[in-house]
Amino acid sequence: MRQKKKSKGVCCWSMLALVVLAIVAVILLVVMVKTDEGSGSPGAPVKKYADALKLAMQFFDVQKSGKLEKNQIDWRGDSGLKDGSEAKLDLSKGMYDAGDHMKFGFPMAFTATVLSWAILEYGDQMQVVDQLEPARSSLKWITDYLINAHPSENVLYIQVGNPKLDHSCWNRPEDMTEKRPLRQVNTSAPGTEVAAETAAALASASLVFKSVDSTYASSLLKHAKQLFAFADKYRKSYSISIPEVQSFYNSTGYGDELLWAAGWLYHATGENSYFQFATGKTAETFGNWGNPTWFSWDNKLAGAQVLLSRVSFFGSKDVSNNDVLGKYRETAEAVMCGFLPKSPTATESRTENGLIWVSEWNALQQSVSSAFLAVVYSDYMLTSRTAHISCSGSTFKPSDLRDFAITQANYVLGDNPMQLSYIVGYGDNYPQQVHHRGASIPADENPSCKDGFKWLEADTPNPNIATGALVGGPFLNETYIDVRNNSMQGEPSTYNSALLVGLLSGLVTTSSVVQSFA
Ligand SMILES: *[C@@H]1O[C@H](CO)[C@@H](O)[C@H](O)[C@H]1NC(C)=O
Ligand SMILES: *[C@@H]1O[C@H](CO)[C@@H](O)[C@H](O)[C@H]1NC(C)=O
Ligand SMILES: *[C@@H]1O[C@H](CO)[C@@H](O)[C@H](O)[C@H]1NC(C)=O
Ligand SMILES: *[C@@H]1O[C@H](CO)[C@@H](O)[C@H](O)[C@H]1NC(C)=O
Repeated sequence: MRQKKKSKGVCCWSMLALVVLAIVAVILLVVMVKTDEGSGSPGAPVKKYADALKLAMQFFDVQKSGKLEKNQIDWRGDSGLKDGSEAKLDLSKGMYDAGDHMKFGFPMAFTATVLSWAILEYGDQMQVVDQLEPARSSLKWITDYLINAHPSENVLYIQVGNPKLDHSCWNRPEDMTEKRPLRQVNTSAPGTEVAAETAAALASASLVFKSVDSTYASSLLKHAKQLFAFADKYRKSYSISIPEVQSFYNSTGYGDELLWAAGWLYHATGENSYFQFATGKTAETFGNWGNPTWFSWDNKLAGAQVLLSRVSFFGSKDVSNNDVLGKYRETAEAVMCGFLPKSPTATESRTENGLIWVSEWNALQQSVSSAFLAVVYSDYMLTSRTAHISCSGSTFKPSDLRDFAITQANYVLGDNPMQLSYIVGYGDNYPQQVHHRGASIPADENPSCKDGFKWLEADTPNPNIATGALVGGPFLNETYIDVRNNSMQGEPSTYNSALLVGLLSGLVTTSSVVQSFA
């Protein structure tokens, strides 16, 4: 080898050229395969994302409370039928938030908002793989509940079940016998974030159902407007009004929900008052311009920045040139720059193999939420023919953002050091002991509250598949302990699923978005 390198004969130059050509060809092939995987072509969905999307969508069926319709999950049945009866309301529908049987309004509303957003951006893509109808009906399962949870203008029921009581049981939802008390926010105990998030959910859902069922859409919008007014007029965090919620879904502030909800109401109504709100005093107070944040059930700022960038990309000239809108877009770009591994401002919150990793608890939430925002933003850029974003002097293309989203999705599907799929039911190697009561107990057993704990403790795979569940995720060192009581890593949630459905719908086929939701 050494000798050959030194030789300068013609034969060796041409050999070198051949080798170089071969290498170039291989690189080109790899790039082409990668690009194809990323963008697909209309009507040609990428199989692995299509398969994963179909599974992920089913987790909503796993989580449904109430009298089930067209139930596809053979180990699930009716449950929570009397939920709400204490206040003479029908709160039987909705979804259990995670592995237990609580119905927590704050994360449930966020699940609905994200699912609506996914449908609005990627309904066409969902349709290609027959997932639009399931997405809409799961969304409606939540919005039916949210409408009933809002019986008068300034009252919103935000919780069904007593978390201490619920968490002291390990049984199937079908066998619940413990009391299901309700919690509400109202004018003497307001909850701005939960009311505003519910407004966001109902406003975004009204856009989803506009063309399908206009009566239902109007009802959604009416409730959304009332809830937004309630949230804004009585400004107080529900964590302060009802301190017990702090142990479960503590809110670290309501400014983000107000802006996010105003953004959705503006999209849903086109009314100037919501635009003024989203770009006015509240935005100056809570906008946190220039500072990237993580998108989660608690903090929607990054989502609001991307959503309002939509107006900057596609709105008419009289609104799109607004200064404050420009700040939303600049901050959305700072968020995107943080995601891109080669950006000078790339976040360091990543595992060695590139997974966005922020928190030990439910680690995949931020990986998937970041990837979802990245694919949406890259599609805004493509559809508006925006060639690049600039990150402290380096420029990046829409495909760079999409490639980032693909790395996160592929990691979740098993492209990781453990070669473990984090979606239950996907691939050959996925978590077997997901922290999920219903999945852990054989469907023909009906243990009471306490009798079920032997199923929590059993060191055997779950007898029922919690199809499509996205578990919490790996440690920073990229390991995962598949033991049922490991709720930190092994508990799935509906909000994770909504984010995952958004991400996979964005990747399943060609990248494009509609210019207007309305
Ligand atoms: C208002 O909500 C608080 C907190 O849930 C509750 O304690 C109070 O009873 C409610 N007020 C009314 C009039 O129902
Ligand atoms: C809930 O969030 C608030 C605001 O960030 C914080 O002050 C409080 O300590 C949190 N409560 C818990 C139990 O973590
Ligand atoms: C990975 O991290 C977890 C949590 O910090 C720790 O418990 C575990 O021992 C680590 N595993 C390895 C192989 O380093
Ligand atoms: C499950 O884990 C929790 C928290 O670590 C612990 O308090 C509980 O005792 C464990 N339960 C069982 C049955 O192992």
